[in-house]
Amino acid sequence: MRPRLLVATLIVAAACVPLRPVAAQTRADSSGSFEPIAAVLSSPRCANCHIAGDAPLQGDDGRLHAMRVQRGMDGRGTPAMQCTNCHQVASSQERHAPPGAPDWRLPPAATRMAWKGLRAREQCLMVKDRSRNGGKTLAQLIVHVQHDPLVVASWSPGPGRTLPPIPHDVFVSEFKAWVDRGAVCPD
Ligand code: HEC
Ligand code: HEC
Repeated sequence: MRPRLLVATLIVAAACVPLRPVAAQTRADSSGSFEPIAAVLSSPRCANCHIAGDAPLQGDDGRLHAMRVQRGMDGRGTPAMQCTNCHQVASSQERHAPPGAPDWRLPPAATRMAWKGLRAREQCLMVKDRSRNGGKTLAQLIVHVQHDPLVVASWSPGPGRTLPPIPHDVFVSEFKAWVDRGAVCPD
């Protein structure tokens, strides 16, 4: 129990560090750049699903999902172990219970959108590439990051999970600003 309590305390302590000025600063300095978007994509809440392997990851340390859960061709698991057997339409409010959103799943095996661990430049090229992003135009990507239930749910993941580094509305405006400035990728 002790180590877990300690971890919880550390997470709470980390959450208390004033994040707002940093977010505000990022916004002022780099509006239109991909960096703040990369910071969100790389956060465990997004990256645990955007992976190269055949099983989702879990936790802030990105460890392999328990119970040998597998992606399956369409991302929804195997016939015997469907994601939605456990993941409900909203995140559980119990610690260590599944986070949730409607149709909880991984990207399909053919288009994995596996940007976990990549540099911002590679993430950027992947996100823009219609042969790798599920066929989305930039306009459709804006709709996705603004309204997709899996994206939105990353900001209400249930107790004990850190949030992405900037609020959802700031993320959406950063994404729009990046598209408006020509969707340029960093070096
Ligand atoms: C539970 C797993 C899961 C989580 C968590 C998740 N995604 Fe995804 N993501 C998916 C799936 C599945 C798709 C494919 C959706 C489709 O093709 O309709 C996808 C696709 C995308 C795409 C490509 C556009 C598209 O429609 O194919 C972007 C961009 C994206 N996600 C961003 C994010 C961001 C940002 C976060 C975190 C704030 C996030 N995702 C969290 C599963 C997830
Ligand atoms: C047998 C039940 C079960 C099944 C089936 C299952 N999950 Fe999970 N999942 C869980 C539980 C429980 C947790 C939370 C573990 C914890 O926090 O200790 C979890 C956590 C996760 C996380 C971590 C979320 C985060 O933000 O860190 C992801 C991602 C995830 N599951 C994706 C999937 C996907 C995708 C599938 C289907 C391919 C799936 N799960 C199938 C029970 C399940």
